[in-house]
Amino acid sequence: MLEIRGLEAGYGDVRALSGVTLSIAAGEIVALLGPNGAGKSTLLNCVAGLVTPWTGSIHWDGEDLLALDAHLVVERGVALVPEGRRLFGGMSVQDNLELGAFAPRTWAARRAGLERVYALFPVLAERRRATVQALSGGQQQMVAVGRALMASPRLLMLDEPSLGLAPRLVAAILEVLVAINRAGVAVFLVEQNVPAALSLAHRGYVLEGGRIVGEGTGAALMADAHVRRAYLGPLAVRRP
Ligand SMILES: Nc1ncnc2c1ncn2[C@@H]1O[C@H](COP(=O)(O)OP(=O)(O)OP(=O)(O)O)[C@@H](O)[C@H]1O
Ligand SMILES: [Mg+2]
Repeated sequence: MLEIRGLEAGYGDVRALSGVTLSIAAGEIVALLGPNGAGKSTLLNCVAGLVTPWTGSIHWDGEDLLALDAHLVVERGVALVPEGRRLFGGMSVQDNLELGAFAPRTWAARRAGLERVYALFPVLAERRRATVQALSGGQQQMVAVGRALMASPRLLMLDEPSLGLAPRLVAAILEVLVAINRAGVAVFLVEQNVPAALSLAHRGYVLEGGRIVGEGTGAALMADAHVRRAYLGPLAVRRP
C-alpha cells in the first residue's frame, strides 16, 4: 500500500535520510525506532508532503505521492499526527477537530467523523467547547490524534504521540491505536517507548543516521541484541 524506495532527504547541505526503502501493507501497525536526529520525523514528513526529498520515490496504492501537495496526500487517505501536536490552542476542541476534515469528502461527513472521535475519546466530547490550551497534555494529544482521524485516513502516521505523557496516558493512547487499527486503518508509529511500540506493532524498522539498519516483526526486534542494547537499556540486555 505504501512503498518507499531509495529515499534521500535533507535540509540545505545536511543529509537526514540515506537510501530509505520500506513498505507498509494495508491493516499493518509498523513501528519506526531510532535515536534523536535519526531522521524519523523527516521520513514521516516526506510521506505527508511537508518535506520534499532529494531523490527516491513514495507510492501509495501505486500513485506517486511526491507529485501531490500535502493537502492532496491527506485527501488520498494518509494523515499525520505531527511531532509536538501543532494544535490551535485558542480554538475549541471541536473546531480543532473539524480542521482535520477540510477535504470535501470528509467535510460533508464531519458530523459522523466527530461522533467517531468522541466515541474513541469520550473526554473530548465532554470538553468539546473548551479551548485546547485549557486541556491536559494527554487530552491535547487525543485532539491531535482525533484531528488526523477526521480525515478518515487509511494510513495514520504518528510522530511520538506519547512524548511527555504520564505512563498511564501513554498506555491509553497506544490502546486507542490498536482500536483504530482493528477498524482497518494502517498505523505508522514513531515512538520513544520501544517496548510498548514493539508489543503492539506487527513489524518495525530501525532508523539510525538516516539509514534503515534493522527490520523485523515486533517480536524479532524485541529479541534483537542491538535493539535491546540501544533501545531497551542495560537491564533488558542482561535478561535471558
Ligand atoms: N528544519 C530543519 N533544518 C535543518 N536541519 C534539520 C531540520 N529538521 C531536522 N534537521 C536535521 O535532520 C536530521 C534528522 O532530523 P529529524 O527531526 O528527522 O530526526 P528525528 O529522528 O525525528 O529526531 P527526534 O527523535 O529528535 O525527533 C537531524 O540531524 C536534524 O538536526
Ligand atoms: Mg522527530
